[in-house]
Amino acid sequence: MANMLDAAEVAKHNTRESCWVILYGKVYDVTDFLSSHPGGAKIILKLAGTDATEEYDPIHPPGILEEELKPEACLGTVDPSTLPKEEPAQEQQEAAQGPPPVESLLNLDEIEEVATKQVSQKAWAYYSSASDDKFSKQFNNRIYQSILLRPRVFVDCTRCELETSVLGHKLGLPIFVAPAAMARLGHPAGEAGMAEACRSFGAMQIISNNASMTPEQIVKDAAPDQVFGWQLYVQIDREKSEAMLARINKLKAIKFIVLTLDAPVPGKREDDERNSMAGAAAPVPSGVKAAERTADGTPDVASGSGGVGQQLFAGTDPSLRWQDTLPWLAQHTDLPIVLKGLQTHEDAYLASLHTPQVKGIILSNHGGRALDTAPPAVHTLLEIRKYCPEVFDKLEVYVDGGIRRGTDVVKALCLGAKAVGLGRAALWGLAAGGVDGVRRTLQILADESKTCMRLLGVESVDALGPQHINTRMAEQQIYDGPSNLDSLRQAFKARL
Ligand code: LAC
Repeated sequence: MANMLDAAEVAKHNTRESCWVILYGKVYDVTDFLSSHPGGAKIILKLAGTDATEEYDPIHPPGILEEELKPEACLGTVDPSTLPKEEPAQEQQEAAQGPPPVESLLNLDEIEEVATKQVSQKAWAYYSSASDDKFSKQFNNRIYQSILLRPRVFVDCTRCELETSVLGHKLGLPIFVAPAAMARLGHPAGEAGMAEACRSFGAMQIISNNASMTPEQIVKDAAPDQVFGWQLYVQIDREKSEAMLARINKLKAIKFIVLTLDAPVPGKREDDERNSMAGAAAPVPSGVKAAERTADGTPDVASGSGGVGQQLFAGTDPSLRWQDTLPWLAQHTDLPIVLKGLQTHEDAYLASLHTPQVKGIILSNHGGRALDTAPPAVHTLLEIRKYCPEVFDKLEVYVDGGIRRGTDVVKALCLGAKAVGLGRAALWGLAAGGVDGVRRTLQILADESKTCMRLLGVESVDALGPQHINTRMAEQQIYDGPSNLDSLRQAFKARL
């Protein structure tokens, strides 16, 4: 592979018929790969003939190039002196001034504001986006404000501890990093940086199936007692998921599998889509049509221009079912299963029938990124309390979505959640200040949670309960129909 190629020569290969890209200084012929790229051909064609490293790097973990391309696809290196010199974009110049010190940021809103100024438009659009009118995204947070706290007085609150446990593993905090994708899109420290921050607090991290680093890289420097979960989006190509599970089974730090069920298909995320269309409107190399066409030549209006979300979901299997997927999973891992994305008491109840394989559930509406107007985790917690409280004895219940304050954390714990996940908030922390930004996020929430618990007159997490909150406002809004649990139980038994 001694070949050194000129960037001008590479630039000529910018069509479906001959598509070359430069990645990390090497030139690749990806023509044959276009049709099998999980993110679709369009995104590669947009970059055909150019240096695609900046676009490629933050969203592909190492090793993928070697896995997907044959060695002969690498045509040589590019002569660096022939590459065009690029002026930094205005947003990058602003970001280059650097963020304020993280210690000066007092709450999660301030961290998000700083992060927003630091990241590319693409990262902002992907992280921040939610479905349709973003009602669920906003409601996830607002619902916590409708729950009132009931402080008791004359209680010694000198001592206050946040320690807890998940599936028998001790944790320093009841707050965990939820599986949000593509951390390196926002900061080069990526998911390994989040792991470093979690290590400082004894906090748990669930690694995204779409992480921008490999699970091996992320857990490499884990403390002996550090706890990780790994999120699984089952792929249509089952062998891919099976190969990943085989890798995960070997990593001692990963204690459970989080099977994601709340987004069998992505929601319509207009910020992400709009950003991708802005990219599509940018000049494209000659020979590449800005709008892709379907086989019969008509414009492909149905698929829109996608966005990072749409690309990540390519290959995800939307056909999962209780009766098929859990037995399949049992063949490929002995790790406990946590089901993520339950949004009704019926599904929480069904999950509780699948013990001992299923040991936990995460109540989540995917940060409002899947079905808009789906209920927040707080509603599902209240529904479970009303219709099938025995679920809390059979399974550990965790929640995510909308956490901005320690009082939110405490309220979720009072309702029976064992731990509370941060999705976007952890990404914003990373984007605002790398590892220290995530540490700052966790520190703020830990301090706020302790203040809240002290003012309630509670000294440990396991002493929190429904007596510390008034949920009347939220209760008025929750599902009030029939429970259907008998028929679900019968259907389940009939399948056995
Ligand atoms: C998302 C996926 C990848 O919501 O979890 O974008």
